[in-house]
Amino acid sequence: MSEYLLELKSVTAGYAKDIDVLRDVSLQVKAGEISGLIGLNGAGKSTLVKTICGFLHPKAGDIFYDNKNINHLEPHHLVDLGICCIPQESSLFPFLTVRENLLLPIQSRMQLFVNVWKSRYEEVIELFPALKDKLGQAAGELSGGQQKQLEFAKAWILQPKLCLVDEPSIGLSPKVAEEVFVWLDRFTERGIGVLLIDHNVRRVVRMSQTIFVLSLGAITASGDQAKFTGDLHSQVKEWLGLNF
Ligand SMILES: Nc1ncnc2c1ncn2[C@@H]1O[C@H](COP(=O)(O)OP(=O)(O)O)[C@@H](O)[C@H]1O
Ligand SMILES: [Mg+2]
Repeated sequence: MSEYLLELKSVTAGYAKDIDVLRDVSLQVKAGEISGLIGLNGAGKSTLVKTICGFLHPKAGDIFYDNKNINHLEPHHLVDLGICCIPQESSLFPFLTVRENLLLPIQSRMQLFVNVWKSRYEEVIELFPALKDKLGQAAGELSGGQQKQLEFAKAWILQPKLCLVDEPSIGLSPKVAEEVFVWLDRFTERGIGVLLIDHNVRRVVRMSQTIFVLSLGAITASGDQAKFTGDLHSQVKEWLGLNF
């Protein structure tokens, strides 16, 4: 039995046959902890998320989740196993209401268990109070912060074991961005393992137990939080190859 909830071993992946966006990537996430992933634009962070979620399959290497090889599983199957993703772009249906967006993934999976999905729905609207007054409103009409809250609520309602969170604070005001990170704490308190990507390197380091640096598709540094604190600025410059 592995101590990790998610473990990538030397994964190579990409969109075209002859171009590898990710090269020999090894990375781990533990249950109830945050692994942070930092790197410049275009480094391959979102590609890594898509590979774990089953939208791309590894050309080489292995992805283990819950001690099972998931290399060839499709995204919907991975959701059923407890992997959920809050992508960089919106995953909401803008013309459906907040209520419909929340219920769609869970109702279709648990048709027969009305009590279960109803109680999860009630729990989630208590936990994300900004949604409570907006349940009948189209998701596309919500503010950026409220839409992000809906994304987190949609993930929570599925009760995942692993959540991949790609640039959750992009486009949000600093105050709302801080809220996002409070929700993330809630996820780990429930024992959910998180892979967190955010452009704010200090925040990723502050929130993560383990940090990985991705540079041009390869992991160039990794370690625990202590290794990444201190003179963060010059360290990050060095990891990212900007020390000139
Ligand atoms: N759908 C796609 N098809 C082909 N290439 C892509 C696609 N999405 C991203 N890429 C390329 O993969 C590389 C990594 O992109 P991405 O994973 O989005 O980086 P990051 O999230 O770190 O900014 C970039 O060179 C980008 O142009
Ligand atoms: Mg990205």
